[in-house]
Amino acid sequence: MATADSTRATEGILADDQREKREEIIAMLQKAYWMEIETVMSYIANSVNPDGVRAQEIKESLEQDITEELGHAKLFAERIKELYGIVPGSEDFTAEQSYLQPPDEQVDIVHVIRGVIEAETGAIEHYTKIVEATDQIDPVTNDMVIDILHDEQGHRRLFEGFLREYEALGLA
Ligand SMILES: [Fe+2]
Ligand SMILES: [Fe+2]
Repeated sequence: MATADSTRATEGILADDQREKREEIIAMLQKAYWMEIETVMSYIANSVNPDGVRAQEIKESLEQDITEELGHAKLFAERIKELYGIVPGSEDFTAEQSYLQPPDEQVDIVHVIRGVIEAETGAIEHYTKIVEATDQIDPVTNDMVIDILHDEQGHRRLFEGFLREYEALGLA
C-alpha cells in the first residue's frame, strides 16, 4: 500500500508541500497572461490604424499574430487553473505597453515596428524567467513556456527584419 509520502513524491509540482513554489509560478503565469492580453489589444489596434502602402505588410503580419497571442493567453490561463490558481478578472489588469500606443501620424510605421519589437522582447525576458524557475520543478509548464518563447523569438526576428529594411532605406 502506498504511503502518503510516496504518493506525494510522484505528484511533483501539484504536491501539497510544493504550494509555495506553485504560487510563485502562478504569479509569473498571471503576469504572462496579462502581457498576452495587452498584446492582443495593441496588435488589433496596430493591425488596423496604420495608413500607407508600406503599412500593409505590417498590418497583415500583426493580424496573424493576434490569433497566436490569444492562443498563448489561453494556454497561460489553462495552466494557471491546473496549478490550482485562479485566472484573474479584468479589474486586475494594468496596462504597460506605453510604446505600442497609436503614433501621432498613422503613416509612422517605424513606431509600430519598434513597439512590437519592445513587446516581444519583454515577453522573451519574462518567459525566459519562467523557463528558469520551472526547470526540473514543473516540466509541464517548462515545456509549454519553451514553445511559447519560441513563437515570441520568431515574432521578434520577423520585426527586426522589417526594421532593418527601414533602416537600410534611411526611413528609421
Ligand atoms: Fe505571445
Ligand atoms: Fe509575440
